[in-house]
Amino acid sequence: MSEQDTYGSADVPTHDASIWAAGGPVTDWTTDYDIRDQEYIENPVPIWADMRAKCPVAHTERLGGSWNPTSFDAVREMAKMVPELSSRQILVMPPPPGAAEMSRYEQQIAAAPITADPPIHTWTRRMLLPAFSPKTVTQYEDYTEQLCHSLIDGFIETGQCDGAEQYAQQIPPRVIAHMLGVDEGMADQFVIWVNGVLGEGLHDPELRMKTRDELLGFINSEVRARITDPREDLLSELLHMELDHPDADITPEVVVGITNLLIVAGIDTTWSSIGSALWHLGTNPSDRQRLANDPEVLPIAVEEFLRFYAPVTMARIAEQDIDFHGVSIQRGDKILMNFPAACHDPEQFEDPDTFIIDRERNRHVAFGSGIHRCAGSNLARLEMTIALRVWMERIPEFEISDREPMKWAGGQVRGPRVMPMSFPVGQRR
Ligand code: HEM
Repeated sequence: MSEQDTYGSADVPTHDASIWAAGGPVTDWTTDYDIRDQEYIENPVPIWADMRAKCPVAHTERLGGSWNPTSFDAVREMAKMVPELSSRQILVMPPPPGAAEMSRYEQQIAAAPITADPPIHTWTRRMLLPAFSPKTVTQYEDYTEQLCHSLIDGFIETGQCDGAEQYAQQIPPRVIAHMLGVDEGMADQFVIWVNGVLGEGLHDPELRMKTRDELLGFINSEVRARITDPREDLLSELLHMELDHPDADITPEVVVGITNLLIVAGIDTTWSSIGSALWHLGTNPSDRQRLANDPEVLPIAVEEFLRFYAPVTMARIAEQDIDFHGVSIQRGDKILMNFPAACHDPEQFEDPDTFIIDRERNRHVAFGSGIHRCAGSNLARLEMTIALRVWMERIPEFEISDREPMKWAGGQVRGPRVMPMSFPVGQRR
């Protein structure tokens, strides 16, 4: 099949609205799981343990049907199955009813490199790597640190804040806007858009479509503006890049797709990780105290936060029938790459469901595995480290408050979205 072909038979139907309907309570997690279930969203770890013990690759008919591997080895093995498992549909939900059908090429560049398979994946990923090298990302250190201080200045005298909305959520969109070279005043709008694509939008196809149109409209106009008038920013760099790769075909549409990915993948992932880490510290006083007394443990603690609260589960679509260790996966089936569950596999991690702040052996897969391993991991680690360091310097004593209920986002990116916190006023500054 050529790259320009439209949806083939390997695709789940796009216009069947019943797929989006909630299917009632889950009765068996191995044959009927639902990633939108409240129990799964709030506390998935025991559910994964149950699934892993009973059957290493669970299945559900919900949301159009998908497979869910929960062991470290199965997830890593599936991550290597390219091109049998394609990334051109990374959300388990099918495209919203009414969405225009896309060619295979359009699907792949929609958010390349994460939605692309080789060869498109290879050169679109190469376009991004220099901007996210360990050395390049250090240039965002000062900006991120000042940002964290100014956010804390905004609420420190009140003795309370919403740690998800007023802190964790505010950092990644501003860093990304700063990096891309777009108006930082758009950061709040980015959060609304990300929620419309990956959060509420997963339950509401109309919202998802509307959001996608708005977000792509914004990116398109930013990209168009730089075609004839390049600036000193990442968007212009991507657009005018000369890549030494025989397949590279850098068009404005490709740059729109990459920017779409950076906004969507760079924001609620890191926001979720910062939020989960603060939630952990706010509910586990001994770990909070340890970090306050021993700030040098922070880089190791960040890896344990990433492992324990790994937020990202992306999907694949099978391009052919596959026998995976006796499991019959049919062409067109979706597979959830359950990196978070893999991070809790007892075969790989000692005492995996205990948070060990200075865990020594921690080869987690929170950033994925294989050719799609997170290209932004250096930036993510930098943002997490600075956000937690500045918070601990300014507010070493704090707790999660019950003045309103916590709210976690689930689906394919998990993290706190409402997180009331309180702390004594007049701590160290
Ligand atoms: C703690 C925060 C983050 C986590 C846990 C995370 C996790 C992941 C995971 C699991 C994947 C692999 C997805 C797959 O296999 O389909 C991925 C891919 C990716 N991430 Fe991240 N991510 C984070 C932050 C970021 C940031 C800040 C950026 C950039 C602004 C970013 C950019 C990317 C890109 C470009 C890819 C696609 C790489 C490829 O397909 O070759 N991520 N991320």
